[in-house]
Amino acid sequence: MIIFTKISDAGNFVKKQILNSKTIGFVPTMGALHRGHLELMKRAKQENELLIVSIFVNPIQFNNPQDLEKYPRDIDKDITLLINIGCDMLFVPSVEEMYPVKITKQYYFGLLENVMEGALRPGHFNGVAVVINKLFNIILPNKAYFGEKDYQQLAIINKLVEINNIPVQIIPCNIVRDPNGLALSSRNKRLSDVQREAAPYIYEVLKFAKKNYKITPPQLLKNIVSKLINNKQEFNLEYFEFADDKNLQPINSWKSATGVIGFIAVWLGEVRLIDNIRII
Ligand code: PAJ
Repeated sequence: MIIFTKISDAGNFVKKQILNSKTIGFVPTMGALHRGHLELMKRAKQENELLIVSIFVNPIQFNNPQDLEKYPRDIDKDITLLINIGCDMLFVPSVEEMYPVKITKQYYFGLLENVMEGALRPGHFNGVAVVINKLFNIILPNKAYFGEKDYQQLAIINKLVEINNIPVQIIPCNIVRDPNGLALSSRNKRLSDVQREAAPYIYEVLKFAKKNYKITPPQLLKNIVSKLINNKQEFNLEYFEFADDKNLQPINSWKSATGVIGFIAVWLGEVRLIDNIRII
C-alpha cells in the first residue's frame, strides 16, 4: 500500500491510474477503523480495480471542540488493517494541507439540513460537504462508498454530487453491528464499561419501534420510545424521529408514507451515538 500526505502526490498517482484505465473505488473515513469501515472497503475492492482510502479527522465538521479533541485516533493500527485488506492507496493529509486558507464556502441543502443532525449540529454538514468535495476532486473515484449508519450524511452527499455534477457513483452500504446489536462507531471506543454494556439497548428500542409501528400512531410511538430510552439511567435522548427516507422530513401518519426510517441520537455521558432503522 502506498501512502500519501500531499494532495499533489495523491493527485499524480490517481491520474496515472486513470491513464491506465483503472477503476477507482474510494472510502473516505476519519480513521479509528472498525469492521463497519472495513465492510465498505471490502465492497469497494470487489467492485473496482483499485481501492483508495482517506483518513482525515476533518476539524470543520465538528461543531463541538471537545468531540474533536477526544475523537479516537490510531493511525498505526489503521495502516495495518488497511494493508491486510489490500488497500492500494491511503491518503492521510494534514489539516494545513487540506485547508491552507479559511473555508468560506456555504452549501445550501434545503430541507435535508434543517432536521436532526443538520438542526442540532450547526455547520456539520457544510464541513462534511466541503471535505468530500475536495476529496472527490483529488481522488476522482468512479464509485464512493458511504454507510447508512450516517443516513442523513448519505443524503447530503447525494445532493452534493447532484449540485456539483460530480461524475461519481455513490454506493450506500448497510449498517454493520456488533453481535449484541450496537452499531459500530469509532466513538464506541470512548464508552466506559458500564456504558458499553448499556448501549445495545438503543438497537433494542429501534427494533421495538419497527415491530409496533402498525398498531401505534407515529407521535404516540415516538413518546413511548422516548420514555423507554430516558427511563434508563445511562441514556439522555437527544431525538427520536420517524422521517421520510428521501426528504428526511418528519412524518405524522403511516398511511401516506412510502419509505420511513426511525432515527435516534442518544448521549451516554459525554459520548453521542446515532443509529437508525428502516420502518417501512
Ligand atoms: P467516519 O465516521 O469515519 O465514517 C466513514 C464511513 O464509514 C461513513 O460513510 C460511515 O457512514 C461509515 N460507517 C461508520 N460506521 C459504520 C457502520 N457501523 N456500518 C456501516 N458503515 C459505517 O462519516 C465520516 O467518517 C465523515 O463524516 C466523512 C464522510 C469521512 C467526512 O469527513
